[in-house]
Amino acid sequence: MKKCVQIAIDGPAAAGKSTIAKLMAEKLQYVYVDTGAMYRAITWKVLDEGVDINNEDAVRKLLAETDIVLLPEGQVQVDHVMVTDAIRDQQVTKHVSQIATYEQIREELKERQIVLANSANVIMDGRDIGTNVLPQADFKFFMIADSGVRAQRRHKENLAKGIESDLDQLEADIKKRDETDANRVHSPLKQAKDAILIDTSALSIAEVVDKMIGYVLK
Ligand code: DC
Repeated sequence: MKKCVQIAIDGPAAAGKSTIAKLMAEKLQYVYVDTGAMYRAITWKVLDEGVDINNEDAVRKLLAETDIVLLPEGQVQVDHVMVTDAIRDQQVTKHVSQIATYEQIREELKERQIVLANSANVIMDGRDIGTNVLPQADFKFFMIADSGVRAQRRHKENLAKGIESDLDQLEADIKKRDETDANRVHSPLKQAKDAILIDTSALSIAEVVDKMIGYVLK
């Protein structure tokens, strides 16, 4: 059986990973797997069910009985409930980094991510894909951008969606999330040794896509 092709994209919050990964997946006809959405999905359920977020064991038990489905158009379902927008709300965004520090949660989600990566050609984005989930990935990218630029992009996205948005607060939140993600004990945000660094600060979306597809098709 032919091995599926795996493309890993890691990097800090709001660096453009999901936008780029979706476009690349469309062009290459690969399946896009948004692993951040999986962490957000369990965080949403913890908050929705009022489970103690500080109790790792309780969160692990909840995850064990939680069905998370990433649909092809980017929608996310938890136990057959559509939560695509709900997992992007402020409360989930605020708490997801804490849930992502829990080793047992990371192990369980990693197993689910590996199953997805072995079932089709995938572009998977997250924080630890190239270092931990798919260390043998065929292509690894580490995408970065200046935190001011990242906050600006998120701000514009929010305004376009009609969501209230405070630029300074956004930048502070992004920096805080990066710090938690990069300094946690279990599979922290880190560039894999063999990952290609892509700084998107001064590049358009089309330029980034072309550059990355260029590496894949070379
Ligand atoms: O990419 P995102 O903002 O949707 O990710 C949400 C959170 O999940 C982020 O704080 C880091 C965490 N995460 C992670 O720890 N490992 C991954 N592979 C993906 C996301």
